[in-house]
Amino acid sequence: MKKKRIAVLISGSGSNLQALIDACATADYPAQIVLVLANKADAYGLTRAQTAGLKTHVISHKDFATREAFDAAMDAVLCANEVEMICLAGFMRVLSPWFVEQWRGKMINIHPSLLPKYKGLHTHQRAIDAGDSEAGCSVHWVSAGVDEGEIIAQARVPILAGDTAETLAARVLVEEHKTYPAALKKILSEQ
Ligand code: GRF
Repeated sequence: MKKKRIAVLISGSGSNLQALIDACATADYPAQIVLVLANKADAYGLTRAQTAGLKTHVISHKDFATREAFDAAMDAVLCANEVEMICLAGFMRVLSPWFVEQWRGKMINIHPSLLPKYKGLHTHQRAIDAGDSEAGCSVHWVSAGVDEGEIIAQARVPILAGDTAETLAARVLVEEHKTYPAALKKILSEQ
């Protein structure tokens, strides 16, 4: 089996990156992580990647005058590493239409809500404030609108009495770590 060459883009903790690292280490998983790219040099996910022996690269968005220039720099590094698919995993930058088009059909994201509900930030607090009985996560294709692409997989958790955004986020995150590797495997096995 030829494993798909994956880049994981992160900005922070990288617990979803860790879930993908662990999945890639299992037998018969159809992907290998060839690059972990961060826009923040202090992203803890970089430490996770280095511990796993993965190649890392930092491109700070602050070094670029425009979103397009930052995206072009990322694209160059991704292409130089012969990346075939991108997994966004807590990557906190909005991507330019050019970059999204460049990677159309080759870029997926995980979002901590049951899309189409609660695109954007503060998803858990918004779900609690709305009185929802359940929350969850979605893995979706990345398209031009933020958090709007076709859904690949979702997982649900209950919202419990007394939940805060933090307790709910922790419950959702457990599901994220199962859902992301499973969704990636699903789309690769269908290709
Ligand atoms: C996750 O909740 C993910 O769904 C969202 O940002 C968070 C990233 O967490 N996009 P981590 O960096 O993977 O730990």
